[in-house]
Amino acid sequence: MNSSDTYPKTPCVVDKPQSYSYGPQEIGEEEIAMVTEALRSKNLFRYLKPEDESFTARFEKEFAQMTQVDHVLAVNSGTSALICALVGLGISSGDEVIVPAYTYIATAAAVLTVRGIPVIAEIDESLTLDPADVERKITPRTKAIIPVHMRGTPSRMDELMAIAKKHGLLVLEDCAQANGGAYKGKPLGSIGDAGAFSLQQFKIITAGEGGAFVTNDRTAFERGGCYHCSAFEFWMRLANQELTIPPFVGENYRMSDLNGALALAQLRKREWILGRLREIKKRFLAGIADVKNIKMQDVPDAEGDCSTSLVFFIESSEIAKNVAAGLRDEGMAAGSVFDKGIPDRHIYYHWDYIMEKRSPDMYGHPWTDAARPCQVEYTRDMCPQSIDILSRTVSIPLTQRMSDAHVDSCICAIHKVMSRI
Ligand SMILES: Cc1ncc(COP(=O)(O)O)c(C=O)c1O
Repeated sequence: MNSSDTYPKTPCVVDKPQSYSYGPQEIGEEEIAMVTEALRSKNLFRYLKPEDESFTARFEKEFAQMTQVDHVLAVNSGTSALICALVGLGISSGDEVIVPAYTYIATAAAVLTVRGIPVIAEIDESLTLDPADVERKITPRTKAIIPVHMRGTPSRMDELMAIAKKHGLLVLEDCAQANGGAYKGKPLGSIGDAGAFSLQQFKIITAGEGGAFVTNDRTAFERGGCYHCSAFEFWMRLANQELTIPPFVGENYRMSDLNGALALAQLRKREWILGRLREIKKRFLAGIADVKNIKMQDVPDAEGDCSTSLVFFIESSEIAKNVAAGLRDEGMAAGSVFDKGIPDRHIYYHWDYIMEKRSPDMYGHPWTDAARPCQVEYTRDMCPQSIDILSRTVSIPLTQRMSDAHVDSCICAIHKVMSRI
């Protein structure tokens, strides 16, 4: 039977979700109650009050338990969480830090903010760091690796931790897109020396804007804490905690208690969101297991995957583009990397200010540091493996509000579109 007899002539997809966001879609009475309580208190400063009255401190405490780490510092963005973690770990002028070719630009930008030099390494078919290329990119100046758990998929942490150990490197997990994910039973963010989370609108849970820096290392926590607020030592002392390090200059990355209230209410919904996302992805995977000519993303730990997207690879970029367009015609939200109107800021060759080594500093730091001038060169074709993989990628965003009927209709759409390839 040919495909025109098997599949409906009209678009397959039914019962589309209203939104593709995660946490923000779940904002309800719990969030309204906590934010209202914060507003009624007329005190939105997170410090200078007992910890059990600070929504931000309560969020930190629950997040520490769920992430199985000793220290959590809530901050005002995922970028500031990365910066605090990098300062915490002691990344300094001219230190090289390995980042993946596929991540939001903030991962590399945070390295530059602390005057480090991002070194871009290939991803593999997990869409996360390729350990073999990480090892090739190590130089005497390499100080740390940032595995990014992209699209909720855990990175190859066993291999990356082994490389880090062998070469004496620090590991900072970028968990911005993987809040609640795990790798071999360990919460993401608890495996490396530190972790950074984002609580921005498009993440698994949201605080409006916000982030969290996590670590088991007291010194790293205190260093990150000092950088997040220039008066950190005073707030700590008022909470009967003396710093064990001499404090130094910081910025202001504090979380307001308004955001803390929202973060706390959302955190309590995280496991439900992830549970439903995982069910949806399993249903998709079972439904398309027999589709020919697609290769599924190589997920390093399917159990710990946050399941925020369904990713597969097609033989060529041209066909991937057609498949994504075909799926959209069927009513699905699907994308391939090269068919978007705007350059995707998650692919390194669109990171213009890094490719061109631009700096807000009039003397061009950190690229021109007198003591340790940059030895890294960037070209837009420097990661051919990543470009090849990404160009053949079809990605379908999932959301916890997809009904089973919708998922089944998407499965039908995938079969229909692939039957024409
Ligand atoms: C992988 C990754 N790292 C870092 C960030 C930065 O987080 P934020 O936007 O909260 O600063 C984001 C998201 O925005 C991200 O996706």
